[in-house]
Amino acid sequence: MSQFRPNCTILAIESSCDETSAAIYAPERRLLVQETYTQIALHAQYGGVVPELAARSHLEKLYSVVEHALSRAELTLDRVDAIAYTRGPGLVGPLLIGASYADALSYARQLPLLPVHHLEAHITIPLHAFSDLDFPFIALLVSGGHTELIYARDLGQYELLGSTLDDAAGEAFDKCGKMLGIDYPAGPQLAANADAYTGKTLPVLPTPLKHRKTLDFSFSGLKTAFSRLLDSQRVHFSDDAFACAVQKTIVDALVTRLALACDQITDVPIVVAGGVAANSALRRAVDDLATRLGRRCYFPDIAYCTDNAAMIAHNAYLRWQRFGVPLRPDHMVQPRWPIS
Ligand code: KG4
Ligand code: ZN
Repeated sequence: MSQFRPNCTILAIESSCDETSAAIYAPERRLLVQETYTQIALHAQYGGVVPELAARSHLEKLYSVVEHALSRAELTLDRVDAIAYTRGPGLVGPLLIGASYADALSYARQLPLLPVHHLEAHITIPLHAFSDLDFPFIALLVSGGHTELIYARDLGQYELLGSTLDDAAGEAFDKCGKMLGIDYPAGPQLAANADAYTGKTLPVLPTPLKHRKTLDFSFSGLKTAFSRLLDSQRVHFSDDAFACAVQKTIVDALVTRLALACDQITDVPIVVAGGVAANSALRRAVDDLATRLGRRCYFPDIAYCTDNAAMIAHNAYLRWQRFGVPLRPDHMVQPRWPIS
């Protein structure tokens, strides 16, 4: 079957970085289950993702991750109508493992193959949970590899409003966390330490691109400033105070740009997506901004913030429904692939 049916079942694979994930999506049966194997422990000793090790680990785990996803859904492959996979952007080796697996499965079972853009999937997953959300919207996409403000006019129609000039927001969390002795990826633990801080005073960090009315971001200077501040002020403040200061600076930088984007594009809702969308200080600050501006804002369920195959399956469904089965691409993967 290569015609879309609303009651179809999609099996999706995500392997763009360090999570091996498989999901089954069958919205008419209210089914969205996923199984994810995280490689965090593998890469923690190196302080970041080692692409070659990531690819090998995907190869080792993918088969059992898919089996577990199917058994959670209480399905066999006979009930699957299409195979989706992450085509890019991401690390070439890891992407190739997922793409080859999906390609082989689609060939063996004679099922349509649906390639998915990872960043598009991040920003469209909130459409699954929120029936009142629709295009157009402004998306703030914040992850370990990307920090982008996107005007999402419609499915497949995106305008990049701004992006980071250097490090991504998640990278800033990870690198500053590492300076505080937190293991990779330091973002979630740094955030927990920051939220636990109840003191009144904070070490002062410079605001990135403070006087520039730009929709772009920059976080590499913050990293250097943070390192200097730690050297000079560690006797005066606790590590939690430093965590709180850096979290506040990153969140302020993100929300200031989001507010500028809202000045330019009026009357549309806000979506925040990607790993850093799990950050509660960011959620609170965006909520406050949305209330002030009288806009609605939407965040994915925490399980769908960091990399996951559920968002790939969901995006593949939307695209199959709207555009049909795409022609087989010349390149199975596209490691560099801007959203617009
Ligand atoms: O979307 P994602 O899983 O991977 C990429 O596509 O990059 O995002 C991972 C990033 C990491 O940098 C991680 O530290 C960060 O998201 N992250 C957080 C939180 N949870 C994950 N950063 C701050 N606060 C969090 N709660
Ligand atoms: Zn991602």
